[in-house]
Amino acid sequence: MIDTEGVTFRYGGGAGDDDAGVTAVDDVSLSIPDGEFLVIAGANGSGKTTLVRTFNGLATPDSGTVAVNGTPVADDLVAARTAIGMVFQDPRDQLVAATVGADVAFGPENLGLAHDEIDRRVAAALDAVNMAGRGDDRIASLSGGERERVAVAGALAMEPDHLVLDEPFAGLDEPARRSVLDRLRELHAGGTSVIAVTHDLRDVLGLADRVVGLADGRIAVDAAPEAAVADLPGLEVRVPEPAVADRPGDVAASDP
Ligand SMILES: Nc1ncnc2c1ncn2[C@@H]1O[C@H](COP(=O)(O)OP(=O)(O)OP(=O)(O)O)[C@@H](O)[C@H]1O
Ligand SMILES: [Mg+2]
Repeated sequence: MIDTEGVTFRYGGGAGDDDAGVTAVDDVSLSIPDGEFLVIAGANGSGKTTLVRTFNGLATPDSGTVAVNGTPVADDLVAARTAIGMVFQDPRDQLVAATVGADVAFGPENLGLAHDEIDRRVAAALDAVNMAGRGDDRIASLSGGERERVAVAGALAMEPDHLVLDEPFAGLDEPARRSVLDRLRELHAGGTSVIAVTHDLRDVLGLADRVVGLADGRIAVDAAPEAAVADLPGLEVRVPEPAVADRPGDVAASDP
């Protein structure tokens, strides 16, 4: 369970700073139950990345609180980072080791787990992203989609309650998108809460239990997917074509 209460985060604008800074997240209160598939949508710069970074203490709110499983993140950073796996916007930034297996083992090793437990987790995580038996592959030899899947496996090996993926489909071709989507569907079916951050809903709308739309750092939409699609284009979020075309009163799509 992730709970934010009145979370506000500003970049810059501190004491001695000339300008007022940027309010990236503005008074966001959000409760994400275990097992939910939540999509956080919004235009570029709407605050999506900053908001999810407050979930595990990578960003500390200027005001408001974040609690994970009832414990304030500020009180127990390790607990928050164990409960929430995060795959960053550019997974290339996240891969730290030379080989797939070493990379996926990195987090569990830092938890100080026993070797056989680490081996078990690495094997299970690689299996979950359809990369079983690829542990000895060199990261440098992987495609972008395979790297994305290794980054997902690295987060899964921590066996988090919540898996946060920031723009998981950026830069992936269609087969790689399908593959990552299939994995997310299976993970969610297995009980993991998935939080997918995107400005393009076409892929994930069918999987979502709920959609939160951000605009200028504030929650502008919080609804089931069917209800959310009507409001999301106003936030510059791409929604599946038929859902838009079916809206009453819409004129037929006119491509230039
Ligand atoms: N390191 C930073 N320093 C200063 N301002 C920042 C920084 N990171 C983000 N911002 C600003 O904060 C606001 C929210 O940015 P954020 O990255 O959270 O948005 P986003 O919704 O994730 O955007 P995108 O879709 O482009 O990833 C924007 O106005 C952005 O310019
Ligand atoms: Mg972002």
